[in-house]
Amino acid sequence: MNEFIHLQSKNHSLIIKTDRVPEVLHWGTKIAQIDEDLLLSTERPISQARLDVDVPLSLCPELGSGHFNAPGIEGHRDGLDWAPVFNLVATNQSRNAVEFTLRDDVAKLELTIDLELDFDSDVLKKRTSLKNLGDSRYYLGKLSSTLPLPNHANELMTFHGRWCHEFQTQRQRFEHGGFMQENRRGRTSHENFPGLFVGSNGFSEQNGQVWGFHLGWSGNHQMRADVRSDGRRFVQAGELLLAGESILDTDECYQSPWLYGCYSNSGLNGISQRFQKFVRQNIVKFPVDKPRPVHLNTWEGIYFDHKPEYIMQMASEAAEMGVERFIIDDGWFIGRDGERAALGDWYLDEVKYPNGLEPVIAHVNEKGMEFGLWVEPEMVSQDSNLYRNHPEWVLGLQGYHQPSGRWQYVLDLQNEGCFNYLFERLNDLLTRYNITYLKWDMNRELVQPGHQGRPAVHGQTMALYHLVDELNKAHPDVEIESCSSGGGRIDFEILKRTQRFWASDCNDALERQAIQKGMSYFFPPEVMGAHIGPDECHSTNRRHHINMRGVTALGGHMGVELDPVKEPQEEIEAFSRYIALHKKYRHLLHSGRSFRIDPADKNQNIYGVESDDEMLITVCQLAMPDHALPSPLRISCTDTDAKYQVKLVEMPQISFQLMKQRPKWLDKTLTLSGDNLKEIGITLPILDPESALIVHLQKI
Ligand code: GLA
Repeated sequence: MNEFIHLQSKNHSLIIKTDRVPEVLHWGTKIAQIDEDLLLSTERPISQARLDVDVPLSLCPELGSGHFNAPGIEGHRDGLDWAPVFNLVATNQSRNAVEFTLRDDVAKLELTIDLELDFDSDVLKKRTSLKNLGDSRYYLGKLSSTLPLPNHANELMTFHGRWCHEFQTQRQRFEHGGFMQENRRGRTSHENFPGLFVGSNGFSEQNGQVWGFHLGWSGNHQMRADVRSDGRRFVQAGELLLAGESILDTDECYQSPWLYGCYSNSGLNGISQRFQKFVRQNIVKFPVDKPRPVHLNTWEGIYFDHKPEYIMQMASEAAEMGVERFIIDDGWFIGRDGERAALGDWYLDEVKYPNGLEPVIAHVNEKGMEFGLWVEPEMVSQDSNLYRNHPEWVLGLQGYHQPSGRWQYVLDLQNEGCFNYLFERLNDLLTRYNITYLKWDMNRELVQPGHQGRPAVHGQTMALYHLVDELNKAHPDVEIESCSSGGGRIDFEILKRTQRFWASDCNDALERQAIQKGMSYFFPPEVMGAHIGPDECHSTNRRHHINMRGVTALGGHMGVELDPVKEPQEEIEAFSRYIALHKKYRHLLHSGRSFRIDPADKNQNIYGVESDDEMLITVCQLAMPDHALPSPLRISCTDTDAKYQVKLVEMPQISFQLMKQRPKWLDKTLTLSGDNLKEIGITLPILDPESALIVHLQKI
């Protein structure tokens, strides 16, 4: 029953050959029509000294049919039915989506594979489900989503990181063998962001063919890219199931998280623009369509030292600077004087706030700002009333000692009493106070994720989603930030129910350049929390001039993270200036197409955002310029015939160490046509290390 399924989006095609199992034949540039001879022209030879039949690299490769690399499914029925082989029994196509149903009548398993090629963004999503049709339990070890790639995809770009060092990238050849990452931390993690890129040799920001992947899941995962010995290659991703974590009773079903994929023939820019568009249209939902308010978050300003009068003074200063949302971070609840106690006791500390929180919120509101509050609902401190009353609510394994993390434990969200308590507490806070924003933190990994003795990362993750969903339902106007010691829980699935990520606990602008760049491959600027910190960074002790800090923060969802009462007037004026600059351009920053320019100088990071008639470009000199003179900035305007007004928006005042005469255009407004800008470009001033400039282009 050979036939083709052809899904089409605006620019791309996904062609799947259906035989015994479905197999992707093409995923990339749009194909107008499928020729009759395509079947014949794509038939593979059979090589010597191997199996006598052709083995398809199917959408769920099977050990039992001769796929010797990682299979898409692993499991057993008390030691039996461990090598299932499926047959396609039904195909349901609706425009740009298809669902395949496959069955193994021996192992009594039914597999469902869902694929959808989003028309507007060209993003492909894939999910796999397994149903147990047998009379006995099926112990599922793994159910991943596999997508094949053409053989010229021979270079990999993957992510690694740690606390304060998220979204770091690594490149490697992808010709033999492969790459694998396993995340067992119980949250999306700083270490193993579930995303990777595979592309043609030397693919860059602007050039080359690239396939990008992201698994939308906030628990454990496995993600791999493999080259088989026959040269065929694939990416595979799914939930990492712990031993015994998924046991399916008769008629029970396991559904994998969504794997998102995307193709581009214009380098990484083509990927990030598609992912960002997809996120805007299909993932993130803002309760009210309004500009993203500029934040002040109190954490690095006052830490646990909460004095309402002082906080109100901070709020007054913040409002003067142009801040629109004021967030009280950790330290406001009973007994929370440091990081060793009180998590779980979500009641206001009336010693610190003798008059309640209401006067502070009223003051914040009077100053024209929204009010937000920090919580870390999934956690409990050993030194807390909650732990003393309910030690059995801890996610753990009886009979073992479990190490604490940041002196705290994780709560078992699948425990009904615990879930209800957390909902009640959060619901009460959101009902009692005029809170429009929660910073939802999660500051440790899951070490013994046991619920009633059974492994429970899956259940815990689903329960977390459920808790957030229930709160969203009860308080649809409240926005939530997903924070996990900075960027430990950043993924599409959590973003379906939250509106912002705290990208990193590191506010060091130089570090942030790399973190935010890595994040921008998947997420649009309006969900990327980016704050100006004090001149000496709290996490690195590095000092940066306000130019570098301001420019770096203004490209995301901007905020400040400091104590404005203590900052010198000169700094306050500068914060105000960068906030104003952000506000001036946020319509563009938060709706435009982001891009990065391949720099001639490897010590530069050049990125921008464009709409049909405007563009804002940031050039950041990360380290000493590679050469005495910078290369011209060549700008790919979509409309090469149009004329643009080019103007410098921001330039470091300190940048006179390496340059005795600045390019004259810096003080003028240039008029240049798209092709001049693209092919010849504009000269840049010589920038000092760790400084940045911004240029604006307006189509005439
Ligand atoms: C985590 C967060 C910080 C801050 C502290 C408070 O580290 O990432 O932004 O909220 O917790 O304890």
